[in-house]
Amino acid sequence: MILVTGGAGYIGCHLVKSLLDLNYGVMVLDNLSTGHRGAVDGRALFINGELGDGQLLSRIFRTYFIESVVHLAANCYVGESVSDPLKYYFNNVSATIALLSKMVEHRVGKLVFSSTCAVYGTPDTEKIDETFSPNPVNPYGRSKHMIEQVVRDLAEVYKLHYICLRYFNAAGADPCGVNGEDHQPETHLIPNILFNLLGKKEKITVYGNDYTTRDGTCIRDYIHVNDLAEAHILALKSLAANKHTNQCYNLGSDVGFSVKEIIEWCEKVAGKKAQVDYGEKRRGDPPKLISASQKIYRDLGWRPQYSLQDIIETAWNWHSRCPGGYCDIGLKETIKFYDY
Ligand SMILES: NC(=O)c1ccc[n+]([C@@H]2O[C@H](COP(=O)([O-])OP(=O)(O)OC[C@H]3O[C@@H](n4cnc5c(N)ncnc54)[C@H](O)[C@@H]3O)[C@@H](O)[C@H]2O)c1
Repeated sequence: MILVTGGAGYIGCHLVKSLLDLNYGVMVLDNLSTGHRGAVDGRALFINGELGDGQLLSRIFRTYFIESVVHLAANCYVGESVSDPLKYYFNNVSATIALLSKMVEHRVGKLVFSSTCAVYGTPDTEKIDETFSPNPVNPYGRSKHMIEQVVRDLAEVYKLHYICLRYFNAAGADPCGVNGEDHQPETHLIPNILFNLLGKKEKITVYGNDYTTRDGTCIRDYIHVNDLAEAHILALKSLAANKHTNQCYNLGSDVGFSVKEIIEWCEKVAGKKAQVDYGEKRRGDPPKLISASQKIYRDLGWRPQYSLQDIIETAWNWHSRCPGGYCDIGLKETIKFYDY
């Protein structure tokens, strides 16, 4: 069985569904702090619990044969990490160390860890590959980089094999329409543009239009959430085969789109014009963040299958069908394990 922490969250619920569709046994551990019970596929075992709860983790590892852990649970807001760094170091670092120590104690030896391109900070380069030295510029990025270093140290001495996946900007929704992005508050660009186009949000603010980029707005690399899910499955298979272990991989499309271009694509898909405001640049926002993902192409044979148009169309379909997010979706039947 695969334990997916954070499996009720945006990326986690897509991964859980992909794993179940391939007949993996899946257990989700999530405290629903930002995730949704309705996002968890009814075929998964669901535990409403805390990552840092050592007793609970021991009971899970004693009761079930957990072959691998995919660890997605985290707090993920860059701005909040600057104003409340302790929250990030507690949840993303301390609670993760609690999980890792229980994995070591119970000899659960395979880990796929959700890292982020935020570990790179603000690199001054066209495209970023894994040879770039991490230099995170906020507590969120630092918390993820710390765990990358912790797992590297643990793998030296314990029977722990890991793969860290540094995602660029996850976006889009499952084309079958059962899962999508529902963050409160939503800070990501594509859903916010779509909220404006759906009349749920008055204006979109573009932070800075005088960057040294082709149209003055920031350029980012967007990756469909199902492509991310597929990369996790390849990582799990690679760990099971004891190949390419203890590596960090970038996960991006290797193509950059500016904020203005994303707005235009969203307008095209929705068939309407968006209301846009221009605001000040945000501190620490690099002009360009584009992945060079050849390492994962080469080692794991992963390739993104979804285009930017697919990303925006699937997101548009999800938000149009479920403007209230998971509140508009019935609870998927779930098996409860322990309630604390
Ligand atoms: N969304 C992106 O673009 C992106 C980019 C890079 C990296 N990531 C990483 O991917 C992972 C998932 O991101 P997401 O966008 O799905 O976020 P999300 O907030 O939708 O999901 C995180 C999940 O973790 C759960 N969780 C948080 N703390 C927990 C705890 N202590 N115990 C149990 N459950 C807990 C939340 O309830 C939520 O369901 C995170 O680790 C994030 O840092 C995301």
